[in-house]
Amino acid sequence: MAGFNKRSTAEQVTEGIDLSGKQVVITGANTGIGKETARVLALRGAVVTMACRNLHKAEEARDDILAGSDGRIKEAQLVILPLDLGSLSSVREAAAKYCERGVPLDILINNAGVWMSDLRLTEDGFESDFGINQLGHFLFSQLLLKPLRAAPSARLVVLSSSAQNFSKLSAELADPNWQQRKYRSAVAYGDSKLMNLMFAREWNRRYGDEGIPANAVHPGVIATELGRDLGGLFKLVGVVALPFMKTVGQGAATSCFVATDPHCGRSGGDFYLDCHSAKMHKLAKDADACRHLWALSEKMTGLA
Ligand SMILES: NC(=O)c1ccc[n+]([C@@H]2O[C@H](COP(=O)([O-])OP(=O)(O)OC[C@H]3O[C@@H](n4cnc5c(N)ncnc54)[C@H](OP(=O)(O)O)[C@@H]3O)[C@@H](O)[C@H]2O)c1
Repeated sequence: MAGFNKRSTAEQVTEGIDLSGKQVVITGANTGIGKETARVLALRGAVVTMACRNLHKAEEARDDILAGSDGRIKEAQLVILPLDLGSLSSVREAAAKYCERGVPLDILINNAGVWMSDLRLTEDGFESDFGINQLGHFLFSQLLLKPLRAAPSARLVVLSSSAQNFSKLSAELADPNWQQRKYRSAVAYGDSKLMNLMFAREWNRRYGDEGIPANAVHPGVIATELGRDLGGLFKLVGVVALPFMKTVGQGAATSCFVATDPHCGRSGGDFYLDCHSAKMHKLAKDADACRHLWALSEKMTGLA
């Protein structure tokens, strides 16, 4: 663990790890960090289910990974699963399809994410950052509990962000769905990324001891499609910051490390950056607030 840092790549941190026979699900695996995570975990032998909303992009990504692998990844190792996290019915269908396969799930990586520029609603009427980043993933993970429990030793990895520090959430989690507050894009994204971490903490409290620990990660700052919805100023900042950003290979390193390292991530409930445990937002340490988020998410997704 001590040997890895912000320059380490996903290939380097998984060197020597054999994932043959392991099943992995990655949300949003058709581009960016998710695609690289899928490539590297498949390279280590796993069967990777790419859970994506855009099937055309998912097929292109799968073909691209296969074409670049020199035959080291087999077609059967990359399975596409339709999943739109902005639609609770799509989430239910996707989870049911995975469960129908009757295979365990060793590693679930909640990677997909959006950063919206303005207030837009999901199919079910939730603000999109909240609905997609938090509620969609909450429901998807819960509905995959059976295959996760069937794995001898499973792990949940959640892509959070240091943008959790933009969050203005109170411990009461007032107005999570932006019905009363004046919309602020960075705050909405930050709220959702803080919720991702709080979700991982509460998941770990509930399921860590039965062998499904959960950890959250900040991948670093990487030039992906994440800012696609944001305006020119964001792009300008991106150009200035480009020399200091991680490559996609480096950006996928912490997720891959936490998902596969034999020691790291076993106890769960932690937040990782550059393959090391990092400081987390104070609300994530507030067990009552994390429990409250869980209950709220259960209610809003119709699980309770
Ligand atoms: N890049 C960074 O600097 C950075 C920093 C901190 C945290 N993160 C986090 O890292 C994760 C990966 O982000 P990225 O940088 O790789 O961004 P990206 O290139 O924009 O990839 C995001 C992925 O999420 C998918 N997605 C979006 N909405 C979805 C939905 N409703 N249903 C299913 N999939 C959906 C996208 O699919 P489509 O292509 O179909 O839209 C895409 O595959 C995100 O959770 C992000 O918050 C990124």
